[in-house]
Amino acid sequence: MTALDFAPLLAPGLPPPAVKFNGFPKYNFTGGHNDGEQVPLDLIVKAANDVLTREGRTLATYGLESGPQGYRRLREFLAQKLKRTAGITCAADEILITSGSLQALDLVNGILLTRGDTIVTEAETYQGALNRWTRLGVNAVGIPLDGEGMRIDALATALDDLKRRGIRPKYIYTVPTVQNPTGTILSEARRHDMLRLAEQHGVPIFEDDCYSDLIWDGQRPPALHALSRHGGVIHIGSFSKSIAPALRVGYIVADWSLIARMLAIKTDAGSGALEQMVLGEFCPAHFDTHVPALTRGLRKKLETLMDALNEQFGTAAEFEDPKGGIFLWVKLPDEVDTLKLYQPALAAGVAINPGPEWTTDKAYGKSRTRLCFANPSHEAIRAGVAALAEVCRREFGVPNRIANVERVRA
Ligand SMILES: Cc1ncc(COP(=O)(O)O)c(C=O)c1O
Repeated sequence: MTALDFAPLLAPGLPPPAVKFNGFPKYNFTGGHNDGEQVPLDLIVKAANDVLTREGRTLATYGLESGPQGYRRLREFLAQKLKRTAGITCAADEILITSGSLQALDLVNGILLTRGDTIVTEAETYQGALNRWTRLGVNAVGIPLDGEGMRIDALATALDDLKRRGIRPKYIYTVPTVQNPTGTILSEARRHDMLRLAEQHGVPIFEDDCYSDLIWDGQRPPALHALSRHGGVIHIGSFSKSIAPALRVGYIVADWSLIARMLAIKTDAGSGALEQMVLGEFCPAHFDTHVPALTRGLRKKLETLMDALNEQFGTAAEFEDPKGGIFLWVKLPDEVDTLKLYQPALAAGVAINPGPEWTTDKAYGKSRTRLCFANPSHEAIRAGVAALAEVCRREFGVPNRIANVERVRA
């Protein structure tokens, strides 16, 4: 019997098929993985045991007797944590728990965007957000950043220009607190300026704050949501970066009128219950001690990465020391095309994220790469950067000095 051919039956407009997972490469600098050594396993095991023993029978209901917005104890923890750390005043009823903040992106996009719409974003930004706009047929206008985050002068110009053309963007998407991929933090003054511009133009702000717990000195400006006077900010966050991404728990903070619209398109009848219960049990007691320890460990890994790059690439690798997070955004010499570096690097066991996948301006991203340092060990970081330098030199002739030894081009 010949197998049924599904190809003619597939819905039109599907994205390209996924690549099969064949295990992680030896030196994995891609994605947003966390540090396995730092997952607070014993406490998570205990939290799971305690919460299930106490409340496990609520698993018999959709939504754990907390309703469709997610486990109430977790939402209550979030309401007080967001007040304390980000200055956000919200009730548990203004929080919707999602399956990772990726689902939060989908829900916000789902209620606001339609084909042909325009949004405004940092020009260097999260690939998951960029891919969604492409897939939805939405035009993303990129605003350049500097060391303090999105440039407000450029934002003002872009908003004026769009207005002249009769276009009202659906939102300004920003990762203001440890930006992905640049690691910058939008200063408080700029936050006020951004809010003022957004208000003037009648445009909401979509604030994605998933890295805001991972700041080296623990200091963060208040969230845009906290500073807004006209309620035009939708705020999302995640436990992926502060605890573990495989849990798939994120959240949205928004006015109930918007949550009500999002719930109507959140068709999974609630996000996974066990992970919400475990976090609801773990976080009130341990979040505040876990996060600084995690952050200290991440900072050490970043230092190993920056040292390794300096040693192996010398001046050929340029980067700013980020304010926190799990990524280093690296500029290689102009002749390097990181999309073309990707495959030979992978063949040598090194996985990197090519810059064009993280930028609205692909030419700007060409010689840039994003390196995630959270998951590989210190030794793997050093060995991986050395291997990357070898491949880069073979393919593009740079760096011509590796570990201070000059190489003659073959
Ligand atoms: C800016 C940003 N938003 C959202 C996400 C999605 O994360 P998750 O779905 O794991 O919460 C990521 C993941 O890397 C991210 O970098």
